[in-house]
Amino acid sequence: MAQLICKDLSLGYDGEVIQDKLNFEVTEGDYLCIVGENGSGKSTLMKTILGLTKPMGGEVLFEEDLTAKSIGYLPQQTLVQRDFPASVKEIVLSGCQGRGQKRFFYTAEDKAMAKKNMQRMDIYDLRNRCYRELSGGQQQRVLLARALCATKKMLLLDEPVTGLDPRVAAELYQVVKDLNEKDHISVIMISHDIQAAVQYAKHVLHIGSHNFYGTRDEYVKSALGQQFISVEKGEEAAHA
Ligand SMILES: Nc1ncnc2c1ncn2[C@@H]1O[C@H](COP(=O)(O)OP(=O)(O)OP(=O)(O)O)[C@@H](O)[C@H]1O
Ligand SMILES: [Mg+2]
Repeated sequence: MAQLICKDLSLGYDGEVIQDKLNFEVTEGDYLCIVGENGSGKSTLMKTILGLTKPMGGEVLFEEDLTAKSIGYLPQQTLVQRDFPASVKEIVLSGCQGRGQKRFFYTAEDKAMAKKNMQRMDIYDLRNRCYRELSGGQQQRVLLARALCATKKMLLLDEPVTGLDPRVAAELYQVVKDLNEKDHISVIMISHDIQAAVQYAKHVLHIGSHNFYGTRDEYVKSALGQQFISVEKGEEAAHA
């Protein structure tokens, strides 16, 4: 059953359309990878799904017991955010606050949820450490634990492995795969790592000057998929 449907969804800012009439859906237990060139509107799409940016047209429809606030979100990281001066525990706990709604106190239930998710992400021993002193991989686990405090159903991850070395990136992909397969959490992930996208995703949404939405296998066989996969391979070879 569809948990989320984007129907003729148009994205943009200040009257300028970036993507026009996107159509796709996410079913329970799905793993959707969103790929596409820089600036094509991938992060804007996530923010629009979360209600943080207004759609320019069309709509985002949720199943009955899912709302934008009950989706876990790991935003695209900037260098400034990596330098955030708070403890791991505080950051994970802040995931218990619905986005946009501020509370001064955390309940015993919130604290138990934060503890459970720190244990789940294997960072409980780091709980009193300062976030900015952690490695990139540890920081992403903290943000994943934070996102999990907001949801039992769906995670939106915006480039979660950027800046991580291949071994740590592979570990993070495994963590996300387990959340998807064992805990049945639907995943929407933006990634520039096309190899990983076609390895883990069940569906692929490619946005850019040309768009594609379909199953992973359909994408791999499509002209757009073939072209994008070979360009990425060429870039990898050039960097090797
Ligand atoms: N708050 C904003 N106000 C106005 N324009 C914006 C805003 N945020 C993003 N844009 C513009 O919208 C376009 C899409 O940006 P977006 O961040 O969604 O792209 P992206 O696909 O996530 O790119 P990347 O792969 O580099 O992360 C860009 O041209 C960007 O400059
Ligand atoms: Mg982005």
